[in-house]
Amino acid sequence: MERLRIRGGNRLEGEVPVSGAKNSALKLMAASLLTQGRTVLHNVPDILDVKFMGALLKRMGCELDTSMFDSGTLTIDVPESIHHEADYDLVRRLRASITVLGPLVARCGRAKVALPGGDSIGSRGLGMHVSGLERMGAQIGVEHGFVVAEAPAGLHGASILLDFPSVGATENLLLAATLAHGTTLIDNAAREPEIVDIADMLTKMGAKIGGIGTPTLEVEGPADLSAVEHTVVPDRMVAGTWAIGAVVTGGEVTLRDARADHLDIVLDKLTRAGASVRTGPVSFTVSMEGRPRAVNVVTLPYPGFPTDLQAMMVALAAISEGTSMVTENLFDGRFRFVQELARLGADVRTDGHHAVIRGRPALSGAPVEATDIRAGAGLLLAGLVAEGETLVSGVHHLDRGYPRLVEVLQGLGADVQREPDNVDFG
Ligand code: EPU
Repeated sequence: MERLRIRGGNRLEGEVPVSGAKNSALKLMAASLLTQGRTVLHNVPDILDVKFMGALLKRMGCELDTSMFDSGTLTIDVPESIHHEADYDLVRRLRASITVLGPLVARCGRAKVALPGGDSIGSRGLGMHVSGLERMGAQIGVEHGFVVAEAPAGLHGASILLDFPSVGATENLLLAATLAHGTTLIDNAAREPEIVDIADMLTKMGAKIGGIGTPTLEVEGPADLSAVEHTVVPDRMVAGTWAIGAVVTGGEVTLRDARADHLDIVLDKLTRAGASVRTGPVSFTVSMEGRPRAVNVVTLPYPGFPTDLQAMMVALAAISEGTSMVTENLFDGRFRFVQELARLGADVRTDGHHAVIRGRPALSGAPVEATDIRAGAGLLLAGLVAEGETLVSGVHHLDRGYPRLVEVLQGLGADVQREPDNVDFG
């Protein structure tokens, strides 16, 4: 176990290269299962979750070449015949592994994927994944903790209306639809940039997909897919985290190789808080002088404010001038971290999915516990501005989503060290 020791008070200043998005790279890895051959992914982030997904693909019979991983390149060789099971020991570490369900049932005619279960951000259902695949002809049940899907005659096209624009369900159904016979319509689809990235790679592979980036996806199948080379879209959550970090610490950070257009609503909120944003062709810079002003935030599916940046905005609100209201609409457990933020002196009251944060002029360092990636990032940002020392335990959560975390922070001038987090039993 490791923790971060942060001495607060330094402004974040400098440039950060933003690598590929975790939530795209993991799904592109799953997409490689759709066809035999060599998929080459560039701009893959060096994070723990990619390693877990790689291990899962290996269990299915794929060979991974990580010799160029230092420069972001990952090669996946998918054999003619793949194993159709995803075991609990890996799936439980990585919810994104549910994305193999669609490709496996579409390609193998059957799939057995451990139920990922809930996690520390709340209950996370699979109903839309299951009912969509059922409409495409799969028979699905849950047996001994596994989702078991069968479609011996293959999948067929269907008209699917999602109750809610679920990211994971849209991805699973989109991937499966490329090999289904006939036309699949996915209505009320999610349209996050990571989904556009997946659809772009599938199109390169030979899939026929209409409506990319809109709430209605139309897939004409089955496509004769072939493995391709693809560059992962930049990570808007990593870029957004360091952008908010610049505002929290009154600093100036340039996010290189990042897409400001994927963060429109976030940058608008930061501007309202008093920050300046300058955008260039392949980078953007966020700077802040003085104390931020309170802003209200409501999380929604893209292009709304991302739930994955909610904790960082609560940290910002905690030191802003005035009272902010933050509403969380995606995950029922995402305010659990405010108890930890309160240990730093933040004044946050929650009622259901609303949080009211009365900004304080200063926070004070304390030991806190990160319970998921984004909660960890929110606590980290608060620690960077808190007076004195903050210890953030549970760094492995942050390592799941933030490449070279400590090096990036030190490069920006933060006083942060990684150290063992062992209990001394005397
Ligand atoms: N939901 C259902 N039934 C379903 C599908 C979803 O009830 O069949 C509910 C979930 O329980 C949740 C909500 O709908 O309350 C949103 O779920 P969604 O399917 O949109 O999200 P996801 O695919 O589980 C991905 C990201 C999350 C990100 C959300 C929302 C990955 C691996 N995860 O999760 O990222 O917060 O979309 O944008 O892509 C993170 O990176 O820290 C993270 C949690």
